[in-house]
Amino acid sequence: MEDQQTVDYFDKYTPEYSVERLEFAIDVIKKHGRENSSLIDIGCGVGNLLAFVKQQTHLTDLCGIDVSRACLQKTREAVGCETFLGSITDGSFVESIPKKFDFVLLMAVLHHLVGRTRKESKARAAYAVKNALELLEAGGRLMLIEPVYYPTIVMDFLFYVKKLVTKMTAKRIEIFGFRNNIGAPVVSYYANEALVDMIERNENCEIETMHFDKEKVTPVQRMGLITRRMDTTIIVRKKD
Ligand SMILES: C[S@@+](CC[C@H](N)C(=O)[O-])C[C@H]1O[C@@H](n2cnc3c(N)ncnc32)[C@H](O)[C@@H]1O
Repeated sequence: MEDQQTVDYFDKYTPEYSVERLEFAIDVIKKHGRENSSLIDIGCGVGNLLAFVKQQTHLTDLCGIDVSRACLQKTREAVGCETFLGSITDGSFVESIPKKFDFVLLMAVLHHLVGRTRKESKARAAYAVKNALELLEAGGRLMLIEPVYYPTIVMDFLFYVKKLVTKMTAKRIEIFGFRNNIGAPVVSYYANEALVDMIERNENCEIETMHFDKEKVTPVQRMGLITRRMDTTIIVRKKD
Protein backbone atom coordinates (compact mmCIF):
# COMPACT_ATOMS: atom_id res chain seq x y z
CA MET A 1 0.00 0.00 0.00
CA GLU A 2 1.49 3.36 -0.98
CA ASP A 3 1.86 6.36 1.27
CA GLN A 4 -1.04 8.40 -0.12
CA GLN A 5 0.50 11.65 1.18
CA THR A 6 3.62 11.00 -0.92
CA VAL A 7 1.53 10.28 -4.03
CA ASP A 8 -0.60 13.40 -3.44
CA TYR A 9 2.52 15.52 -2.95
CA PHE A 10 4.08 14.44 -6.25
CA ASP A 11 0.75 14.68 -8.10
CA LYS A 12 0.43 18.27 -6.91
CA TYR A 13 4.00 19.58 -7.07
CA THR A 14 5.61 17.46 -9.83
CA PRO A 15 8.95 19.16 -9.12
CA GLU A 16 11.86 19.13 -11.57
CA TYR A 17 15.15 18.37 -9.80
CA SER A 18 18.59 19.14 -11.22
CA VAL A 19 20.06 16.68 -13.73
CA GLU A 20 23.71 17.32 -12.75
CA ARG A 21 23.44 14.55 -10.14
CA LEU A 22 23.16 12.14 -13.07
CA GLU A 23 26.51 12.94 -14.70
CA PHE A 24 28.49 10.04 -13.21
CA ALA A 25 25.73 7.62 -14.27
CA ILE A 26 25.73 9.13 -17.78
CA ASP A 27 29.44 8.26 -18.08
CA VAL A 28 28.63 4.69 -17.00
CA ILE A 29 25.95 4.44 -19.70
CA LYS A 30 28.36 5.81 -22.31
CA LYS A 31 31.02 3.30 -21.27
CA HIS A 32 28.86 0.17 -21.08
CA GLY A 33 25.85 0.94 -23.29
CA ARG A 34 25.51 -0.88 -26.60
CA GLU A 35 23.36 -0.07 -29.57
CA ASN A 36 19.78 -0.93 -28.54
CA SER A 37 20.54 -0.84 -24.80
CA SER A 38 17.42 -0.16 -22.76
CA LEU A 39 16.84 1.88 -19.60
CA ILE A 40 13.99 2.19 -17.11
CA ASP A 41 13.80 5.13 -14.72
CA ILE A 42 12.04 4.18 -11.46
CA GLY A 43 10.36 7.19 -9.85
CA CYS A 44 10.88 9.08 -13.09
CA GLY A 45 9.00 12.17 -11.90
CA VAL A 46 8.36 14.62 -14.74
CA GLY A 47 10.77 12.85 -17.10
CA ASN A 48 13.67 15.31 -16.95
CA LEU A 49 16.23 12.57 -16.19
CA LEU A 50 14.98 10.47 -19.10
CA ALA A 51 15.13 13.54 -21.36
CA PHE A 52 18.74 14.14 -20.18
CA VAL A 53 19.69 10.50 -20.86
CA LYS A 54 18.15 10.78 -24.34
CA GLN A 55 20.09 13.98 -25.02
CA GLN A 56 23.45 12.85 -23.58
CA THR A 57 23.65 9.23 -24.77
CA HIS A 58 22.68 7.15 -27.79
CA LEU A 59 19.93 5.35 -25.83
CA THR A 60 16.44 5.50 -27.32
CA ASP A 61 14.78 2.48 -25.67
CA LEU A 62 13.61 4.32 -22.54
CA CYS A 63 10.69 4.06 -20.16
CA GLY A 64 9.59 5.26 -16.73
CA ILE A 65 7.73 4.08 -13.64
CA ASP A 66 6.05 6.34 -11.09
CA VAL A 67 3.23 6.28 -8.54
CA SER A 68 2.11 9.73 -9.69
CA ARG A 69 -0.24 9.87 -12.67
CA ALA A 70 0.47 13.61 -13.11
CA CYS A 71 4.24 12.96 -13.26
CA LEU A 72 3.81 10.23 -15.86
CA GLN A 73 1.66 12.47 -18.02
CA LYS A 74 4.50 15.05 -18.03
CA THR A 75 7.08 12.32 -18.74
CA ARG A 76 5.17 11.16 -21.82
CA GLU A 77 4.93 14.76 -23.04
CA ALA A 78 8.65 15.43 -22.42
CA VAL A 79 10.17 12.17 -23.64
CA GLY A 80 7.47 10.42 -25.68
CA CYS A 81 8.32 7.12 -24.01
CA GLU A 82 6.31 4.30 -22.48
CA THR A 83 5.34 4.70 -18.81
CA PHE A 84 4.02 2.36 -16.11
CA LEU A 85 1.86 3.57 -13.21
CA GLY A 86 2.68 1.68 -10.03
CA SER A 87 4.98 1.27 -7.08
CA ILE A 88 8.44 -0.22 -7.00
CA THR A 89 7.43 -1.74 -3.65
CA ASP A 90 4.61 -3.72 -5.30
CA GLY A 91 6.12 -7.07 -6.31
CA SER A 92 3.26 -8.10 -8.61
CA PHE A 93 3.35 -4.72 -10.41
CA VAL A 94 7.10 -5.13 -10.97
CA GLU A 95 6.53 -8.69 -12.28
CA SER A 96 3.89 -7.38 -14.70
CA ILE A 97 6.44 -5.18 -16.53
CA PRO A 98 6.94 -7.16 -19.73
CA LYS A 99 10.69 -6.83 -20.24
CA LYS A 100 14.10 -6.58 -18.56
CA PHE A 101 16.51 -3.67 -18.98
CA ASP A 102 20.24 -3.06 -19.45
CA PHE A 103 20.13 -0.06 -17.11
CA VAL A 104 17.82 0.67 -14.19
CA LEU A 105 17.89 4.16 -12.71
CA LEU A 106 16.67 4.62 -9.13
CA MET A 107 17.30 8.21 -8.18
CA ALA A 108 16.00 10.06 -5.12
CA VAL A 109 13.22 7.55 -4.53
CA LEU A 110 14.33 5.39 -1.57
CA HIS A 111 13.91 8.19 0.99
CA HIS A 112 10.26 8.53 -0.04
CA LEU A 113 9.39 4.90 0.76
CA VAL A 114 8.25 5.38 4.31
CA GLY A 115 6.72 2.99 6.81
CA ARG A 116 5.55 3.43 10.40
CA THR A 117 9.11 3.41 11.75
CA ARG A 118 12.61 4.05 10.41
CA LYS A 119 13.23 0.30 10.51
CA GLU A 120 10.08 -0.40 8.50
CA SER A 121 11.02 2.35 6.03
CA LYS A 122 14.47 0.83 5.54
CA ALA A 123 12.87 -2.57 4.91
CA ARG A 124 10.64 -0.99 2.21
CA ALA A 125 13.64 0.71 0.63
CA ALA A 126 15.56 -2.60 0.65
CA TYR A 127 12.59 -4.32 -1.00
CA ALA A 128 12.56 -1.59 -3.66
CA VAL A 129 16.25 -2.26 -4.35
CA LYS A 130 15.49 -5.99 -4.69
CA ASN A 131 12.63 -5.23 -7.13
CA ALA A 132 14.82 -2.80 -9.09
CA LEU A 133 17.36 -5.62 -9.53
CA GLU A 134 14.52 -7.87 -10.79
CA LEU A 135 14.04 -5.46 -13.69
CA LEU A 136 17.64 -5.89 -14.86
CA GLU A 137 19.00 -8.20 -17.53
CA ALA A 138 21.87 -10.39 -16.32
CA GLY A 139 25.00 -8.28 -16.68
CA GLY A 140 22.92 -5.06 -16.55
CA ARG A 141 23.53 -2.16 -14.18
CA LEU A 142 21.45 -0.55 -11.47
CA MET A 143 22.36 3.10 -10.92
CA LEU A 144 21.23 4.04 -7.44
CA ILE A 145 21.49 7.73 -6.54
CA GLU A 146 20.45 9.16 -3.18
CA PRO A 147 20.98 12.36 -1.22
CA VAL A 148 22.88 11.39 1.93
CA TYR A 149 23.09 13.28 5.23
CA TYR A 150 25.07 12.60 8.40
CA PRO A 151 24.71 11.86 11.24
CA THR A 152 22.02 9.18 11.04
CA ILE A 153 20.54 10.16 14.39
CA VAL A 154 19.52 13.57 12.97
CA MET A 155 17.78 11.80 10.07
CA ASP A 156 15.98 9.57 12.63
CA PHE A 157 14.87 12.74 14.39
CA LEU A 158 13.74 14.42 11.15
CA PHE A 159 11.70 11.32 10.21
CA TYR A 160 9.79 11.23 13.52
CA VAL A 161 9.30 15.01 13.70
CA LYS A 162 7.86 14.97 10.18
CA LYS A 163 5.60 12.06 11.14
CA LEU A 164 4.33 14.00 14.13
CA VAL A 165 3.81 17.35 12.40
CA THR A 166 2.11 15.67 9.43
CA LYS A 167 -0.47 14.27 11.85
CA MET A 168 -1.15 17.74 13.27
CA THR A 169 -1.16 19.96 10.19
CA ALA A 170 -1.16 19.75 6.42
CA LYS A 171 0.95 22.94 6.37
CA ARG A 172 4.48 22.85 4.93
CA ILE A 173 6.94 24.33 7.37
CA GLU A 174 10.61 24.71 6.42
CA ILE A 175 13.27 23.33 8.75
CA PHE A 176 17.07 22.92 8.70
CA GLY A 177 17.17 24.58 5.27
CA PHE A 178 15.70 21.46 3.73
CA ARG A 179 14.37 22.07 0.26
CA ASN A 180 11.27 20.18 1.26
CA ASN A 181 9.43 20.75 4.51
CA ILE A 182 8.69 19.43 7.91
CA GLY A 183 5.21 18.19 7.00
CA ALA A 184 4.20 15.80 4.24
CA PRO A 185 5.83 14.01 2.61
CA VAL A 186 7.70 12.26 5.40
CA VAL A 187 11.24 11.35 4.34
CA SER A 188 13.66 8.68 5.52
CA TYR A 189 17.21 9.52 4.42
CA TYR A 190 19.97 6.89 4.63
CA ALA A 191 23.71 6.93 5.22
CA ASN A 192 26.00 5.30 2.65
CA GLU A 193 26.48 2.28 4.92
CA ALA A 194 22.71 1.64 4.99
CA LEU A 195 22.46 1.91 1.18
CA VAL A 196 25.31 -0.59 0.79
CA ASP A 197 23.58 -2.93 3.23
CA MET A 198 20.34 -2.81 1.17
CA ILE A 199 22.29 -3.84 -1.94
CA GLU A 200 24.43 -6.51 -0.31
CA ARG A 201 21.33 -8.39 0.91
CA ASN A 202 20.98 -9.54 -2.73
CA GLU A 203 23.28 -12.32 -3.83
CA ASN A 204 22.56 -11.78 -7.53
CA CYS A 205 24.60 -8.58 -7.77
CA GLU A 206 27.84 -6.82 -6.89
CA ILE A 207 28.75 -3.20 -6.27
CA GLU A 208 30.97 -2.03 -9.11
CA THR A 209 31.63 1.61 -8.15
CA MET A 210 30.62 4.20 -5.57
CA HIS A 211 30.86 7.90 -6.36
CA PHE A 212 30.28 10.82 -3.99
CA ASP A 213 29.40 14.37 -5.00
CA LYS A 214 30.07 16.27 -1.81
CA GLU A 215 27.75 19.20 -1.13
CA LYS A 216 28.24 22.13 1.23
CA VAL A 217 26.34 21.90 4.50
CA THR A 218 24.37 25.14 4.72
CA PRO A 219 24.54 27.23 7.91
CA VAL A 220 20.91 26.36 8.65
CA GLN A 221 21.59 22.64 8.21
CA ARG A 222 24.62 23.00 10.51
CA MET A 223 22.30 24.51 13.11
CA GLY A 224 20.20 21.36 12.67
CA LEU A 225 23.36 19.36 13.58
CA ILE A 226 23.93 18.04 10.07
CA THR A 227 27.68 17.49 9.62
CA ARG A 228 28.03 16.00 6.13
CA ARG A 229 25.96 16.05 2.96
CA MET A 230 26.51 14.40 -0.43
CA ASP A 231 24.80 12.89 -3.45
CA THR A 232 25.88 9.26 -3.64
CA THR A 233 25.87 7.21 -6.84
CA ILE A 234 26.24 3.44 -6.51
CA ILE A 235 26.67 1.36 -9.65
CA VAL A 236 25.52 -2.22 -9.10
CA ARG A 237 26.09 -4.95 -11.66
CA LYS A 238 23.70 -7.91 -11.84
CA LYS A 239 25.67 -11.12 -12.06
CA ASP A 240 25.60 -13.15 -15.31
C1 LIG B 1 12.20 13.24 -5.29
S1 LIG B 1 11.33 12.72 -6.72
C2 LIG B 1 12.69 12.26 -7.76
C3 LIG B 1 12.36 12.34 -9.22
C4 LIG B 1 13.55 11.93 -10.11
N1 LIG B 1 13.88 10.52 -9.91
C5 LIG B 1 14.76 12.80 -9.83
O1 LIG B 1 15.68 12.33 -9.14
O2 LIG B 1 14.76 13.94 -10.30
C6 LIG B 1 10.69 11.12 -6.23
C7 LIG B 1 9.85 10.46 -7.30
O3 LIG B 1 9.59 9.11 -6.88
C8 LIG B 1 8.22 8.83 -7.09
N2 LIG B 1 7.84 7.77 -6.15
C9 LIG B 1 7.57 7.88 -4.82
N3 LIG B 1 7.24 6.69 -4.31
C10 LIG B 1 7.35 5.79 -5.32
C11 LIG B 1 7.12 4.38 -5.42
N4 LIG B 1 6.74 3.67 -4.36
N5 LIG B 1 7.31 3.76 -6.63
C12 LIG B 1 7.68 4.50 -7.72
N6 LIG B 1 7.88 5.83 -7.69
C13 LIG B 1 7.72 6.47 -6.51
C14 LIG B 1 7.53 10.16 -6.84
O4 LIG B 1 6.22 10.20 -7.38
C15 LIG B 1 8.50 11.13 -7.49
O5 LIG B 1 8.24 11.30 -8.85
